[in-house]
Amino acid sequence: CLWIRNLALKKRLPGPFAWPLVGNAMQLGQMPHITFSRLAKKYGNVYQIRLGCNDIVVLNGYTAIRQALIEHSKEFAGRPNFISFQLVSGGKSMTFSNYSEQWKAHRRVAQSTLRAFSSANSETKKAFEQHIVAEAIDMVQNFLRLSEEKCYFNPAHEFTVAAANVICALCFGKRYGHDDPEFRALLGRVYKFGETVGAGSLVDVMPWLQSFPNPVRSVYQNFKTINKEFFAYVKDKVIQHRDTYDPDVTRDMSDAIISVIEHGKNKMLTKDFVEGTVTDLIGAGQDTVSTIMQWMLLLLPSMEDKISLVHLDAFIYETMRYTSFVPVTIPHSTTTDVTIKGFHIPKDTVVFINQWSVNHDPQRWQDPHIFNPSRFLDENGALNKDLINSVMIFSTGKRRCIGDQIAKTEIFLFLAILLHQCTFTSNPSQTLTMDSLYGLVLKPVNFTVTAKLRGKHLGIVS
Ligand code: HEM
Repeated sequence: CLWIRNLALKKRLPGPFAWPLVGNAMQLGQMPHITFSRLAKKYGNVYQIRLGCNDIVVLNGYTAIRQALIEHSKEFAGRPNFISFQLVSGGKSMTFSNYSEQWKAHRRVAQSTLRAFSSANSETKKAFEQHIVAEAIDMVQNFLRLSEEKCYFNPAHEFTVAAANVICALCFGKRYGHDDPEFRALLGRVYKFGETVGAGSLVDVMPWLQSFPNPVRSVYQNFKTINKEFFAYVKDKVIQHRDTYDPDVTRDMSDAIISVIEHGKNKMLTKDFVEGTVTDLIGAGQDTVSTIMQWMLLLLPSMEDKISLVHLDAFIYETMRYTSFVPVTIPHSTTTDVTIKGFHIPKDTVVFINQWSVNHDPQRWQDPHIFNPSRFLDENGALNKDLINSVMIFSTGKRRCIGDQIAKTEIFLFLAILLHQCTFTSNPSQTLTMDSLYGLVLKPVNFTVTAKLRGKHLGIVS
């Protein structure tokens, strides 16, 4: 009797009418995160949509997202069992696997190794920062060369190679990108990864689209190929490490991961999780960091005044908030039945977390649609720590990004060194726009800049 009463008290989730077969797929538009925020105004911050054959709960705004990811962290820590997720990192991805004891062990290995090689003590911090500085110097030289050769160039690829190289230096003790055309070409294809796994992608929710030629099918075929190629590339490097492994000498992160998984006490992870972990880490760090670098460069030439070092952090956080360039997290799923805000959500429901809605909530941000870095500075010109922590770009809870600290260090140093060394000017024959392409990461549409050395600075940072 109590059970029936409880059931009656649980509210049915509101949401738009869903059409047969496609559900609400045709209503998502080019920018699903904006559509999700618009729907939240009508249906509230917790509502349901249907994509193909999947009922999906969309969470918007800080309160609902916090309630789900922090107060019910375990219940919302799952990942859907999408076919595309199984293709990542040789089927041994931590990022794309569901919540389980094995996932917990896997995340612990990835997180502790990353920390050990980037921030464990002052020596590792210094070594890590030196990798970034070396990469930034190379980038400056490449930008100057490209400016000389072509005048205006698109910086996207250089940013991707630089970000990938920083992680490669940690994982392999070697930067592959600059002397390896195969690696550079591979990275040029990986940027399409986010098209498939971004929230709202139709690849996984409409399996019948695979049976005849159409754009969604080619996106999926391409996704298969890039994952296969990327995994093969990383696996080869891991095998070289395994063949020359010496328990007394830890050369880099690959050795450290081999040591824990293959030679440690952990019996939860088989040895093929080593290559899965390394592939995850290299993959996760490049597209995200490269994309924010592009946004920052785009926002810089469109700002009238040049920013000073004091304002650098404020500028970085405002770029994260304003662009919300990871607008919706990787899709989550519920690990058990759960109730939030009075709504019952069954186990194994796909959940979209709209980070953009948190960063553009007019109740939390004054004029959220205006780019204004000084919103993060207090009356003494110091950074407002509470406010920077209110920006949601790395998600929160059990699935929170494990690369947040290294990403922030990388972004700060890359930007500081680039601005210290160069001035960037936009191409007068192009109109700068904030238009973007939607995926797991929102990317600016192609734009070009030219770089000029500021005085004779090069070398100071070496
Ligand atoms: C997951 C953001 C850089 C490693 C994520 C997620 C977001 C995110 C939104 C999904 C969280 C969720 O599903 O709730 C970012 C941003 C970055 C960045 C904005 C740069 C500015 C990095 C870097 C690394 C990394 C540099 C590692 C080298 C990971 C991993 C996960 C993850 C392994 C999966 C966590 C899990 O599923 O448990 N990141 N990330 N990220 N990120 Fe990052």
